[in-house]
Amino acid sequence: MADRSTNGNDLEGIGLESARLDTTPDDFRRMASEAVEVIARYYEQIRELPVFPVTTAREIEKLLDEALPETGADFSRLLSLFSEVIVPMSRHNGHPRFFGYIASPGTAVTAIADMLTSALNATVTSWRSATVAAQIERVTIDWIKQIIGYDSRAEGLFVSGGSMANLAALAVARRIKARADVSAQGAQSLDRAMRIYISGEGHLSIIKAAALLGIGSANVRLVRVDSRLRIEIDDLTEKIEEDIQAGHQPFCVVASAGTVGTGAFDPLGETADVARRYDLWMHVDASYGGFAALAPSRKQWFERIAEADSIALDPHKWLYLPLDCGCVLYRDPAAARATFSHDAEYTRVIAREEDEQFAFWDYGPELSRRFRALKVWMMLSHVGTRALGLAIEQNIACAKQFEQLICVSEDFEMLAPVELSIFCFRYVPLRIKSELEQASGERAEEINRRLDALNERIMVELQRDGSSYLSNARVRGRFALRGCVINYRTTKQDMEILLDDTRRIAQKVSTE
Ligand SMILES: Cc1ncc(COP(=O)(O)O)c(C=O)c1O
Repeated sequence: MADRSTNGNDLEGIGLESARLDTTPDDFRRMASEAVEVIARYYEQIRELPVFPVTTAREIEKLLDEALPETGADFSRLLSLFSEVIVPMSRHNGHPRFFGYIASPGTAVTAIADMLTSALNATVTSWRSATVAAQIERVTIDWIKQIIGYDSRAEGLFVSGGSMANLAALAVARRIKARADVSAQGAQSLDRAMRIYISGEGHLSIIKAAALLGIGSANVRLVRVDSRLRIEIDDLTEKIEEDIQAGHQPFCVVASAGTVGTGAFDPLGETADVARRYDLWMHVDASYGGFAALAPSRKQWFERIAEADSIALDPHKWLYLPLDCGCVLYRDPAAARATFSHDAEYTRVIAREEDEQFAFWDYGPELSRRFRALKVWMMLSHVGTRALGLAIEQNIACAKQFEQLICVSEDFEMLAPVELSIFCFRYVPLRIKSELEQASGERAEEINRRLDALNERIMVELQRDGSSYLSNARVRGRFALRGCVINYRTTKQDMEILLDDTRRIAQKVSTE
């Protein structure tokens, strides 16, 4: 019988290391239970940890300064490194007062799902390569269509995130609307510039996609926004008309279902009307706001999303999933196939039934893909849409409560209305408030610039302080302290602590 301590591989001197490659089930049980204990402790402590570590890049570099390992280390040592260096030196997206950017906290069930995904290590390229995984992805995509109220004939797939979903959708839009075969002949075969329209609040990944696809970032027209920072339909049609007059080809309008800066939600119905009138592809970037469809108070905003030609969503945002998991949906699956299908002998599907001929590579840019659907499927199956809807509603309520606190305060002001769960505000000390009220023109601009600088310092100091974390946005040219509530752990008390923290830091910074 083979010696299990070396897995029967007795190449002299490397027995132990090769055993680490081909771990015995008992060793795996020991390693996994140690790791589970580390994770459980992390979850237990997360509320008490500083949101952001007091450290520097130099310090972290020094702590991890190790030579390329020739011989392996004991797993317990690596776990200790995780607990003693990686955890304390990290920013904690799962902390209830981490309000920066749009960062999901992750959940326990999806952390386990990620481990199971890696253990099975399915290659989710096609039905043939990932029989059950392919089916779970199709079921889960179907559930997401039901959540937002999309066409049941639509198809889609999971990708790395919202940026990749936007890129894939715009690739399809361009392929379908181009006046030449751009897939074969390239963008140089076009006789006129193809123009995209998106509000000035839209996400940079749309502009990046335009640059990458040869559409050109200069051909993305930024449309004005209304008082709620939503796309202004009159300006949209004006820009389209202008472009037609100039000999360009308007081909795509992007509506944002929750902008990254302020959470503004563009009017989907009116945007769809414009898209239909000018024969434009309508894409909805619902990367942030898409799962707000689960919240009863926001459901009606999605009423006409079914008219979109494509939609980007990000389960790794408001479905509380860990990175990475984005999702792209296409109303007409044939349009996606026309864009992404390419033949090669190794991708030739030899199958008996139609379902078995299905291949994800016909719907997106990637070939090898991990089993992302498992964590979405486990999350939805384990938690259910009702509890998720309540958690999302609670996040919106926290943001609204913060808006109320700001509105009744004397030393802060809101810079944008709360539409979903993002809030943008700034500190305006009383003495500056009265100065600003009396100023106009260049004088008001000068005071605002001082406030921009002051609030930027407040943000930096608040991040260093470690109790609460905000990031920033620019709202109508002004620097805003910006927070996004996207964590089921966050309570209304956390919103009060955030305000106290910000005020404490603001008073300290403004007297320095
Ligand atoms: C509206 C919007 N679109 C796209 C993205 C890009 O998503 P990802 O970071 O998953 O690539 C974001 C990210 O915050 C976003 O808020």
